Amino acid sequence: TSLRVVPQTGSTNSDLAAEAARGAAAGAVLVAEEQTAGRGRLERRWSAPARSGIFLSMLLRPDGVPKPRWGWLPLLVGVSAASALSQVAGVEVRLKWPNDLLVDVGGEERKLGGILAELAGDAVVVGIGLNVSLREEELPVPAAGSLALAGAAVTDRETLLRALLRTFDELYADWAGAAGDPEASGLRAAYAAQCATLGRSVRVELPGGRELLGEAVAVDGDGRLVVRDGAGEERAVGAGDVLHVR
Ligand code: BTN
Repeated sequence: TSLRVVPQTGSTNSDLAAEAARGAAAGAVLVAEEQTAGRGRLERRWSAPARSGIFLSMLLRPDGVPKPRWGWLPLLVGVSAASALSQVAGVEVRLKWPNDLLVDVGGEERKLGGILAELAGDAVVVGIGLNVSLREEELPVPAAGSLALAGAAVTDRETLLRALLRTFDELYADWAGAAGDPEASGLRAAYAAQCATLGRSVRVELPGGRELLGEAVAVDGDGRLVVRDGAGEERAVGAGDVLHVR
């Protein structure tokens, strides 16, 4: 891994996608202290005050992993972040499929951060945005949370970043070494242990605007969420917004 920290950029994901197109090697990690055009999933914006969180992207080339299984990558990054933060900061971080990080703030499930994975030719750029020190009045939306608001014992960004990258390196090596098999690498079990979505009643807003109601019963071999509707019919969803209904 080569780690670079820049004071400001538009979007670390866009920067690494451009580098990937120029043939940059896998393992590049770019951290920005501030983003002026941060992007979220589904064409949304990701905005946060300078130095209030961790904004980073990684350039990956999962060569020995069959492409359909690359769908697990954002989940793997989520598991890495959730375990590293839970360990170092001492707060419980859970995952909402596909890749929101959740924390409990005063009994409410709030969004601590999110993950944006984008294909860039034969590479994948995975970005993570985490709210670390934000106070209530600094939150971009009321449903957001931060490590500080969740009562974290540690909010030093460098300490958190190091832990996150170390955990990611381990999990990624296991996963890539198992050709992306979520079973053999232990990733499925690790994800299930931290996932707040499995077993819940959910409403999934599909990218086309349609909705799916049911129970989230599994994540399949390609990282898709399997939802069982009231008639017992199962459908695997590759993208969408999940609402935890109860
Ligand atoms: C989401 O919740 O929709 C995903 C948010 C991802 C934000 C991160 S911040 C670093 C990286 N660069 C970006 O432009 N986006 C990701």
